[in-house]
Amino acid sequence: MANNEDQFKKVISHAKEYGYIFASSEIYDGLSAVYDYGQNGVELKKNIREYWWKSMVNMHQNIVGIDAAILMHPTTWKASGHVDAFNDPLIDNKDSKKRYRADVLIEDYAEKLHQKAEKEIEKARKRFGDSFDEAQFVATNERVIRYKTEQREVLERMARSLETENLADVKALIEELGIADPDTGSKNWTDVRQFNLMFGTKLGASADSAMDLYLRPETAQGIFVNFLNVQKSGRMKIPFGIAQTGKAFRNEIVARQFIFRMREFEQMEMQFFVRPGEEMKWYNYWKETRLHWHLSLGMGEENYRFHDHEKLAHYANAAADIEFNFPFGFKELEGIHSRTDFDLKAHEEFSGKKLQFFDHELNKNYTPYVVETSIGLDRMFLAVMSNALQEETLEDGSSRTVLKIPSILAPVKAAVLPLVKKDGLPEIAQTIIDDLQWDYNVSYDEKDAVGRRYRRQDAAGTPFCITVDHQTKEDNTVTIRYRDTMEQERIGISEVSEKIKESISFKIWLK
Ligand code: GAP
Repeated sequence: MANNEDQFKKVISHAKEYGYIFASSEIYDGLSAVYDYGQNGVELKKNIREYWWKSMVNMHQNIVGIDAAILMHPTTWKASGHVDAFNDPLIDNKDSKKRYRADVLIEDYAEKLHQKAEKEIEKARKRFGDSFDEAQFVATNERVIRYKTEQREVLERMARSLETENLADVKALIEELGIADPDTGSKNWTDVRQFNLMFGTKLGASADSAMDLYLRPETAQGIFVNFLNVQKSGRMKIPFGIAQTGKAFRNEIVARQFIFRMREFEQMEMQFFVRPGEEMKWYNYWKETRLHWHLSLGMGEENYRFHDHEKLAHYANAAADIEFNFPFGFKELEGIHSRTDFDLKAHEEFSGKKLQFFDHELNKNYTPYVVETSIGLDRMFLAVMSNALQEETLEDGSSRTVLKIPSILAPVKAAVLPLVKKDGLPEIAQTIIDDLQWDYNVSYDEKDAVGRRYRRQDAAGTPFCITVDHQTKEDNTVTIRYRDTMEQERIGISEVSEKIKESISFKIWLK
């Protein structure tokens, strides 16, 4: 996948042209970092959500789902620490007047050091060929050691300064490293300040009696406050999980990367409640299980990597990201966090209600520890779209734009095309649609020559085209054309449904 701005721009314009994503309230010039999903986008989003839900809820007998409200009692956010600590350190450039996250500026600097070390390793691999010993090279090459040491020191110092709220040192670090405004090159920075990311709103009619609320910044707290409700009503035994998908809201400081960082977005989260002391076992289990889920979609093993956190959130004792190779580089796609008993204990304290579990095997009560998996649905959408969009040069020298979305996620599974708009072919196409639409989202297209229609479906991401021609009238067969290989096959109309079914079998994909 091209790692460049051009590819990213193509993804954005393609998403609009093919009904995937539009800017919110576009006729009023849009709303920054807020987006609407179009007719294809809503289907892709739904399919990603379902792929996640099936693997997390249906495939785990000890995980159940809920759908908690977006609005929650305001004390929730006091207890969770979001009122006091859900802040980003921001810094302004005095010349460009642009605002940045100070930690992101430093992390980008550290990432460049990582890239430099990788380049040295790559060069050496080419030089030494088969005899290359990467571990030995990394341990002994002076440049690689220097880059890696500096990268570690920078990240460690930043983590220390942020943990101790030493914002003056965060600014000092930016200045010492000579970090400049990425857009203008200016190094004229303001001090670093904390900025709370929660959106406030009000509940109630009159100004006096109104209650200040927040739009939830994560779905997780809806799960924590329902821990006992679910445990008791579902007779759940530890270890067990509660899963949820739904909207979350954050007043992001820097929101310039399309649907990567939005102010209104959707999360797919699962909180797994475990015995205290067993959390690292489950943390490792969920890291591997979630990576496996990503790899099952076939978007390239080389496009994923783990990033273990140096700087831990206020609630975590271990945390890692699964990063994906977006067109703008490797960035966080999903977080796996060992949240200890922080949240349940805090809700116990603030609510005065016990949130404990009686473990019959151990014959004692305890507050469970929690391992969380948290993925942004929109971010996953972007990973799928940017990986799928490809420009191919064909054997005859022409090119085609194709959206190779994994067929299990594709918005429209098949397009049914009559070769011509006469001779009863549209009517036969319609009977095929009438049959398929019970099971799949299918579409009909009769406009333009069939070659152009194939290209249109390629670009829209439809994995199968079913073409009805004059031979269909004689022997009830159609041509099935495969998006990815462009191969065509003659099959009976009665076989079409089975072909599609095979290609979108959850069992086959996830296994
Ligand atoms: N409950 C834990 C939690 O919310 P997080 O790392 O802040 O952790 C989890 O968020 C995931 O939510 C991220 O990995 C990312 O995929 C997604 N996410 C977070 N902020 C986002 C934003 N502003 N826009 C889109 N997705 C976002």
